[in-house]
Amino acid sequence: MREFTEETLTDAVVARLARTENARFKAVMTALIRHLHAFVREVELTEAEWTAAIRFLTATGQASVGDRQEFILLSDVLGVSMLVDAVNHRGGRGVTQSTVLGPFYIEGAPDLPMGSDISHGGPGEPTEVSGRVLTPDGKPIKDAVLDVWQTAPNGFYSTQDPNQDRFNLRGRFRTDASGAYFFRTIKPTSYPVPTDGPVGTILNAMGRHPMRPAHLHFIVSAPGYETVTTHLFVDGDPYLDSDVVFGVKNALIVAFTPKAGAKTLEAKYDFGLKPAARKTAA
Ligand SMILES: [Fe+2]
Repeated sequence: MREFTEETLTDAVVARLARTENARFKAVMTALIRHLHAFVREVELTEAEWTAAIRFLTATGQASVGDRQEFILLSDVLGVSMLVDAVNHRGGRGVTQSTVLGPFYIEGAPDLPMGSDISHGGPGEPTEVSGRVLTPDGKPIKDAVLDVWQTAPNGFYSTQDPNQDRFNLRGRFRTDASGAYFFRTIKPTSYPVPTDGPVGTILNAMGRHPMRPAHLHFIVSAPGYETVTTHLFVDGDPYLDSDVVFGVKNALIVAFTPKAGAKTLEAKYDFGLKPAARKTAA
């Protein structure tokens, strides 16, 4: 067949995957093609809308330069990142729940000694963050690495702000023999995701605000355990119920309370890591 109709085109495109060798890739592409075609049929996409969509995706790619990742942000605000997270991390008792990575992570944050101040004495409410990294049955995990990053009080991550050092408010900490970690920082603030690019335009068109509730980001890893990418959210934040990227989970909300006898807040949280699935020989 060389001529296709509205009714036969989808099956014809899927049939061209007949010689695709990778079974998983074939399954993913088949579903992608069927869902994309179904979407076009359902909304009866106009040519002007299709052109606008191509322009939007092109602009999203063009805005993803250097440390800026507009496509992760797009995935985040459409709830796709949290859905990928949900189907991949179904958790379990004693395992810290995961949430979005977000677009502001950079590799290479310095390894810092326990108790270091990642704000380097910068502005903000001084805060001590501490806790332990544990197995699901509560045993300490030694040498777990916590890769931490957060915003400055102006709402910007270091990579968005030429007035901050590249690794300001970022650092990597390692647990001791009791699984404990401890670092100093400042209380994070709620902040808007960047609205000066294509994602800002589409949020505005949908009538949505761009705010995220205040949080600390963590990637917690240890040999033999599944890595957890997550946040700790500040209890009481006004945006907990309307996070623009749908990332909030109740178990990740932590009280930042005044420390007795000190002009410092403290936040405590124990992370739980799940043992990695054993790889069987092929
Ligand atoms: Fe963030």
